Amino acid sequence: MSSSSVPQKLVSAPVARLEGRVRAPGDKSISHRALMFGAITVGETTIEGLLEGEDILSSAAALRLLGADVVRLGDGAWRVRGVGVGGFREPPDVLDMGNSGTSARLLSGLIASHAFTSFMTGDASLRRRPMMRVIEPLSRMGARFVSRDGGRLPMAVTGAPTMMPIEYRLPVASAQVKSAILLAGLNTPGETTVIEPEPTRDHTERMLEGFGAAVRTRTLDDGARAITIVGQPELAGNRHIVVPGDPSSAAFAVVAAAVRPGSDVTVENVGINPTRAGLYETLREMGAALSFENRRVMGGETVADLRIRGGALKGIDVPPDRAPSMIDEYPVLAVAAAVAEGTTRMQGVAELRAKESDRLASVAAGLQANGVRFEIGADYLHVQGGAVPGGGLVATHLDHRIAMSFLVLGLAAQSPVAVDDGSPINTSFPGFAAMMNGLGAKITNA
Ligand code: S3P
Repeated sequence: MSSSSVPQKLVSAPVARLEGRVRAPGDKSISHRALMFGAITVGETTIEGLLEGEDILSSAAALRLLGADVVRLGDGAWRVRGVGVGGFREPPDVLDMGNSGTSARLLSGLIASHAFTSFMTGDASLRRRPMMRVIEPLSRMGARFVSRDGGRLPMAVTGAPTMMPIEYRLPVASAQVKSAILLAGLNTPGETTVIEPEPTRDHTERMLEGFGAAVRTRTLDDGARAITIVGQPELAGNRHIVVPGDPSSAAFAVVAAAVRPGSDVTVENVGINPTRAGLYETLREMGAALSFENRRVMGGETVADLRIRGGALKGIDVPPDRAPSMIDEYPVLAVAAAVAEGTTRMQGVAELRAKESDRLASVAAGLQANGVRFEIGADYLHVQGGAVPGGGLVATHLDHRIAMSFLVLGLAAQSPVAVDDGSPINTSFPGFAAMMNGLGAKITNA
């Protein structure tokens, strides 16, 4: 599942405007959860609109090794026959999570409560990423981990036959860590509580409730959210899950249209859960003409068709407390900021350094290569907007969002922008270049 095997250089040439209607691919976070939660119910879960990116296929392969029956029926249509809460078997091989942090961290939570040993690894990007954030709370609950130095993959996980419930305050705003603990809590007697100082994406809570789990959320005096899950032996099966479009993927077409005056693009079927919609709020503050049309509820999540018309953008200060709701969107926001008039200040974004690449460093290097001025610190990036010279070659470091973001920069620059390896795009957005070219972009193999 290594997306790094055949580097694929891509180049994006400037275009005047974009136009058309497209459909966002399935939400990556929700797709992982649909497969995983289906795998721990008794009965059959059917899924439509599943994202068939490499990250999701990593989750599917791992769940099969753990004993679930996971079958692709057709385009985005999948069926999972689960093993029940606590019903996984010892996997006969290493769980290879490829590029996917969500697979690694959520599955760590799921297997932590099973009395067998599993071995987990991933590609060069994932092997650099911090796992201590799940190792620490799951160890407190009783699981044991042997990892490389600093809590890095590969690691071995030996689950505890009986886990201990904990109350845990997240030291970093992370939906993956929250979810890992809640999933371990599902197979733990008593009540497990995660306290998050800032709200992170809540797909785990919503979907587990849909499967009949007892999940309670309350706001504490200091404004933090406490999410409690009651351990239970069984989840209801026979659910049908409709996966909404991914706001983090839609972001590329939306920003592309926003930065080309005269553009008129509609991205259909985009999830607009408030824990994910920070970029859209930010673009509006920058002056983008963005409207949410045809709002409806799909599988417990609100979706809308996003219509964006290109025009002038201005730089703004992005409040740090908005970061969790747009954590994956800073690279493409940096592109909008590079084209906007004035300076955009992104603060409190140290977490970007723990993503598929060190995204603060990757974005800064990409801006530098294309003649955009910026200032970078341990937890901030200030981008000076204006005319973008372009003409640079950007190193993607196995990071899909760096690749897609800089291809978007190319269509608004004075000279084409190239990325050294576009193959990681397949982790989250197969068909990205074709979709963008359908709107008028010029993304080609270099
Ligand atoms: C995700 C949570 C976020 C996000 C990632 C997907 C999830 O990671 O960056 O792409 O599905 O829970 P963190 O939990 O590390 O912030």
